[in-house]
Formats: sequence, structure tokens, C-alpha cells
Amino acid sequence: MKTTLSIIKADVGSIGGHVSPSNKLIDTISHHVEQEMDVLLSDFYIGTTGDDIALLMVHDKGVGDEDVHRLAWEAFKAGTEAAQAQGLYGAGQDLLVEAFSGNVKGMGPAVAEIEFQERPNEPFLMFMADKTEPGAYNLPLYLAFADPMNTGGLLLSPEITKGFRFRVQDVSFTEGDRLIDLSTPEDLYNLAALLRDNDRYVVESIWSRHDGQQAASVSTTRLHNIAGKYTGKDDPVMLIRVQKNFPATGEVLAPYSIAHYVGGFMRGSHIGPLMPVCHGTGCSYFDGPPIVSCWGFCVHEGKLTEPVDLFQHPFWNEVRHRAADKAMEIRRQGFSGPAMLPYSELEYGGIVHILEKLESRFTLRPATRKAEPVAV
Ligand code: F6R
Ligand code: MG
Ligand code: MG
Repeated sequence: MKTTLSIIKADVGSIGGHVSPSNKLIDTISHHVEQEMDVLLSDFYIGTTGDDIALLMVHDKGVGDEDVHRLAWEAFKAGTEAAQAQGLYGAGQDLLVEAFSGNVKGMGPAVAEIEFQERPNEPFLMFMADKTEPGAYNLPLYLAFADPMNTGGLLLSPEITKGFRFRVQDVSFTEGDRLIDLSTPEDLYNLAALLRDNDRYVVESIWSRHDGQQAASVSTTRLHNIAGKYTGKDDPVMLIRVQKNFPATGEVLAPYSIAHYVGGFMRGSHIGPLMPVCHGTGCSYFDGPPIVSCWGFCVHEGKLTEPVDLFQHPFWNEVRHRAADKAMEIRRQGFSGPAMLPYSELEYGGIVHILEKLESRFTLRPATRKAEPVAV
């Protein structure tokens, strides 16, 4: 029997701005899933980070299953009603269409799913990030799965020395899923050439070259591609299987000590460091900084253990301090240069009107003639 892990995540309302969902909202979603899961799910867990709620569902129906997706959609619909009743901010903001039609992909919520034959022990990690974009995971995934400077296992462990296959998606393409498969180590530079561009190329999944098993799945939704206008940053979720034929938990986590700069932050339009935080952490400074949380689980015969909060360890306090310093440092330059995202990535259109109005105020000065070189 195969097991499927499905994370479906949405922001359907929060307290005090785009900060944190209310207990009532979380309880409503949890209650709905409990009532309706019947024989569909063998287990589930609800996690929150920033203003987002992620539903981790365990079942045997495979990826993209209509009933599983419908259950999550209806749970978020029920949550939206609770959010409206409480007057939460942005109630239902990620449910971009009226009626469910087969699969929540393309309807607003973010999705990451993996199906696999359970190993006798099956550890995996669930990531949630808020106030940022799916490409925020590019660098940590590259380092964890392809760089022996980070992942000693690429040199030491026979199960992973063959490397991994990265499936990368061009998320600016909207007429379908434009994908490329690159194998490391041979394609290392090709992979780096794509992953440098977090706005456009996003790691969608990673597969072991040792046994063909899927190691990672990342949500690649771009809300503005769906809605055609700003509705919030994409706040990606991710599943990673760890240990033995995959990198170890610590190798997957290590790159987050960089607190690398990512797109998002205030109004989804700035650059800020990705701060690793504990479960349930909200947003604060400049609607951020961008945050990421990570739960560790084991799953056995379709049942989840309780989670461990992997960024709770005292080590990460030091990283959080460094991330706060990096956040304040880049904020000192306000809108200037790389502190604010380029025009194409701005999530608010207001600047377009300013620039349009200025058009008519530009004047043209004839090019001045170059001075003739003086003959010597
Ligand atoms: C970023 C985000 C927030 C909002 C900001 C303004 O992804 O969610 O930074 O963009 O709080 O929100 P509105 O436009 O709803 O007032
Ligand atoms: Mg929000
Ligand atoms: Mg969010």
C-alpha cells in the first residue's frame, strides 16, 4: 500500500492585519476535517505560520485526488465563514474562485504532495513560509541536495552519492506547467543558472537517482498569475523526505542558517532575509520579515507521530538575531535599488499610475554634439 502526503495551504483571514489566523478559524477548519474525513484520510495535522494555515493530510488516494482536494477546499470555505463572522482581515483571500472544480491547483491554495511506499521508518519534514515566494526554497534545496560543502552525505553516504534529479518549473509561463529536469552533479552549473532567478524558476520536485524515489515537493502557485492582480504573496509549502536515501534532517535544515534574502516582506514587494521561526509565529516588523517554519514527523501505516518543531532549538536564536540585523540593514535604504523588488515583481500596481502621470512631464533635449578631438 502506498501512502500519500498532501499539504494544502491557504490564507483565509487573520487578526490584526496579515499577521496570524485566530484560534476560532483554526478550530473551525480542524473540526470540519475531523467531521468529514471519514475513510478518506488516515490522519491529518494543521499547522500555521504567519497568516497561513496548512492542512497536512495522510491518505492512500495518490496525488491530485479530487475528494482529498475537495475536503480541503470545503474546510477552507468553512474557515472563511468563521473568519467573516469574526471580522478577520482578508477573510477568504486565497480562495480565488467561487466553486470547486476537481483540484485546488489554480484556484488559490498552495499544494505540495508526495506519494511513496512507506519505508519501515519514514521521517519527513513539512515546511511553511510566509511573506515570500516559492523560489525562496531554491537556494536551501540546491545546497541540501547538490552541494557537498553543505551535505557531507553526498560524499559519505552510498545511497545519495549518485545525486538527485531536480524538476524546475518556469512559473512565469501561464499556459501550462513548463518544466525541465536537471540531474546533479552533471547539471550543477545549469541548475545554478536557473535557480539564481527565484522569481521565475522554482524547484518543483526532487528525485533520488539511487532508487528513483521522490524526495521533495514544493508548491509552485503564483497567485498573481491566477488572479491577474495582487492578492498576496504565494507563501510556499514544501514536503521533504529525509535520512538514508535522502539528505539527513540536519543537512536539509543547515542552509536556513544563512537567512538568505528573498522576495516578499511588506506588500510582497521588497527584499528581506528568510528568518527560521517556531510554529505559529506571526508577522510583525514591516509585515515580516519573511519567515519559514519546519515540522519533523514520522508516518507509519498512514498515522502521523506528533510533530517536532525543528527551528525551536536554541541554535536558531542566533540565526534569528542575525536575520533581524539583516532585515533592519536592508530596510535602512527604503525603496532604493535592491531593497524594493523590480517593477515586474511588485505586487501593488499604484506605482504604474505615478509613472503614467509623469510620462507627459518628460521633455526631450536634443543630443548635444560631441566635441571634436583637438588635433595635436
Ligand atoms: C504581504 C502582505 C502584507 C500586505 C500589507 C498591506 O504579502 O500580505 O504585507 O501586503 O499588509 O495589505 P492591504 O493591501 O491588505 O492593506
Ligand atoms: Mg494575508
Ligand atoms: Mg501569508
